[in-house]
Amino acid sequence: MDDALAGTRVLIAGGDGDAARALGARLAAGAAQVTVAPDAEAAAQAALAGPPDVIVALGAAETELRELLDPLELRSGPPLIPANALANQKRSPAERLRLLLDSAALERRARDVESALAAQTVARRRDLESARIEMLRRLALAAEYRDDNTREHTERVAALAARLGQRLGLSELALTHIRHAAPLHDVGKIAIPDSILLKPGRLSNAEFEVVKTHAEAGARVLADAESELLEVAESIARSHHERWDGTGYPDALSGADIPLVGRLVHVADVFDILVHERPYKDAFSVEDAGAEIQSGAGTQFDPEIVEAFADLGPRVWLAAPGVYGG
Ligand SMILES: [Fe+2]
Ligand SMILES: [Fe+2]
Repeated sequence: MDDALAGTRVLIAGGDGDAARALGARLAAGAAQVTVAPDAEAAAQAALAGPPDVIVALGAAETELRELLDPLELRSGPPLIPANALANQKRSPAERLRLLLDSAALERRARDVESALAAQTVARRRDLESARIEMLRRLALAAEYRDDNTREHTERVAALAARLGQRLGLSELALTHIRHAAPLHDVGKIAIPDSILLKPGRLSNAEFEVVKTHAEAGARVLADAESELLEVAESIARSHHERWDGTGYPDALSGADIPLVGRLVHVADVFDILVHERPYKDAFSVEDAGAEIQSGAGTQFDPEIVEAFADLGPRVWLAAPGVYGG
């Protein structure tokens, strides 16, 4: 007599005959605590009421049990082993069952570790993405402190650019990226001296050249990130002053060579600047600003985006929903 199964509760399913009795005796010889259920149904009930450590099923009872127990119970419940798996030349059924139980336990452990890891990866990715969004929000806030007149401008631009993108049929993910990245379009203004940035009246050519560097400076701040969100932010910062006809800056790109996100933000940015007062200009009426955008179609702006802009209409142009969940 060995004690390979000491303390192991074995439920024999389909135990209505000599084969079951013989098997029960041999397992009990390995110090198992054996219970016998006459058929699959009785076995399922017994298994659910007071789970054994293992169910050994004879003949058809295995298939029947698999049908009776739902997949979750099979996954987390006691292993279900067909009796013929215990037939072995070299080992007793008790030893054989012990081996099978050990490997089932190992498998289950590996499965648990795997799903714990998968859950952790998902959670970590989520944390990372919200940390990135939070970082961009703080960076946008810092940029806004550079110029009181641009307070809330960045969020309005982001909201309008996203509405335009939505009109063009962009995916929900692309729109989310725009909402979070577009407020950063002028982050490069951190690098522009107050004497120029806050100057009332017109800038000299030399001063304007300095202002123009904000596009590249902003892109540098956001460059080389391993995240799609930051790549979008970088692209917007760099390309939001490119013009459809190729006369914009910093890269003098034209047409579809200008990243779409930059083209969207360009329209939204110009509109918002027009309808709000700036140190160097009074506010346009909404109609005048709309007409100004319209007249830039094909020269300053992507004509398709201007069309989307016209489709949205003044009510949407002026709606400035909170970008950050407000
Ligand atoms: Fe800008
Ligand atoms: Fe702007």
